[in-house]
Amino acid sequence: MALKITVIGTGYLGATHAAAMAELGFEVLGLDAVPEKIEMLARGRVPMYEPGLEELLGKHVAGLPGSTGRLRFTTSWEEVGEFGDVHFICVNTPQKHGEYACDMSYVEAAVASLAPVLHRPALVVGKSTVPVGSAARLTRTLTELAPAGTGVELAWNPEFLREGFAVQDTLRPDRIVVGVEGEKGEKVLREVYAKPIGEGTPFVVTDYPTAELVKTAANSFLATKISFINAMAEVCEAADGDVVKLAEAIGHDERIGKKFLRAGIGFGGGCLPKDIRAFMARAGELGADQALTFLREVDSINMRRRGHMVELARETVGGGFLGRRVAVLGATFKPDSDDVRDSPALNVAGQIHLQGGQVTVYDPKGMENARRLFPTLTYAESALEACRGAHVVLHLTEWAEFRELSPAALASVVAEANILDGRNALDAAAWRTAGWTFRAMGRPQA
Ligand code: UDX
Repeated sequence: MALKITVIGTGYLGATHAAAMAELGFEVLGLDAVPEKIEMLARGRVPMYEPGLEELLGKHVAGLPGSTGRLRFTTSWEEVGEFGDVHFICVNTPQKHGEYACDMSYVEAAVASLAPVLHRPALVVGKSTVPVGSAARLTRTLTELAPAGTGVELAWNPEFLREGFAVQDTLRPDRIVVGVEGEKGEKVLREVYAKPIGEGTPFVVTDYPTAELVKTAANSFLATKISFINAMAEVCEAADGDVVKLAEAIGHDERIGKKFLRAGIGFGGGCLPKDIRAFMARAGELGADQALTFLREVDSINMRRRGHMVELARETVGGGFLGRRVAVLGATFKPDSDDVRDSPALNVAGQIHLQGGQVTVYDPKGMENARRLFPTLTYAESALEACRGAHVVLHLTEWAEFRELSPAALASVVAEANILDGRNALDAAAWRTAGWTFRAMGRPQA
């Protein structure tokens, strides 16, 4: 009998995982505590912008014309308990208010609701990013509360999906990591992931703590790489060097690699910032805080970039923002996403607004979320409209649309042709030729 799968929590991770499991051929039931989310998903719609996800849902959600019918949604825990052989926990673990540590309340609540409905043997698989030590604790809760007792096993299977590439990262991951105790976990997960394993995806089996650590270690490494190149950008600025050339040159060394070496206003989003902070907090609890003090530096290099962009903008408009118009291109924390959580772009826009600048923001997909978070900023319907009358234009999220803008057309609507590239993604020569004063982070001023 083919395994039946449930997915608990249908945000970015859960919705994508549920659709991907259906694509792999399984019968899938998704659960979320928010009925509006479930209603939307049952109509094949997603509450966020994620390329390819609606197409995949459309292919599998039961009741949609031409679908395989393999994917259904519910708000009933009893239905989940009855249906599933494998239950994936995909709820989020945000940063706690006013603390570095991660908020485990959604994971705890999911396990507390799931355990009592597990009447027959099942595998529960945690995918959420959690502090090391959580799986060992949760496995005790599960066996205590589940009617099936020790027939219920827990495995930890961290996810590494990137927003904007969530579907591709889930269907064709670059590795699958499973933390297990006992034999069932590995056996069942090999069956679940048979297709990607067959296509060559490495399958790494570990104990619980290592699996939990793999995720935070990977994100810490990526954050460190970005802050490294941003630190080099600071030095380049002081020494009149060019960080883009520097990154290109060191990136040719295969041991370093060229990815994640884009200097600019730094990293944001729902993962990297909170994950490195939660990692530091957890290491502190374990008495290993010294091992991770460097992450504090990684975090502060990153946050400094935002302040630096504000300073560059201030300098460009003559030393103060009062009465000056600032156009901000980009609100999301990265392109191909509508996510504005801890977005460096919006943070810079907000700081300038608070200092008296008249800020107008445009983003291809993030306007609605940005408006909700920063209702006091002005929003424009296009890049051109945002730039009308501006004394400086800030390029803060590297959407392809912004690389296709015509520097000449934009020059005709601004008050002063100044542009600052906070992502090192625009063609400096093209902008300068069209009469702009062009400045980028970590690059010499022409
Ligand atoms: C990240 C991890 O990549 C993923 O594996 C994990 O599962 C979740 O966290 P995501 O948050 O979607 O994914 O974004 P990512 O593509 O990693 O980018 C993070 C941030 O770093 C963005 O703000 C991006 O603009 C910034 N970044 C990235 C840089 O500033 N420079 C770079 O060279 C690369």
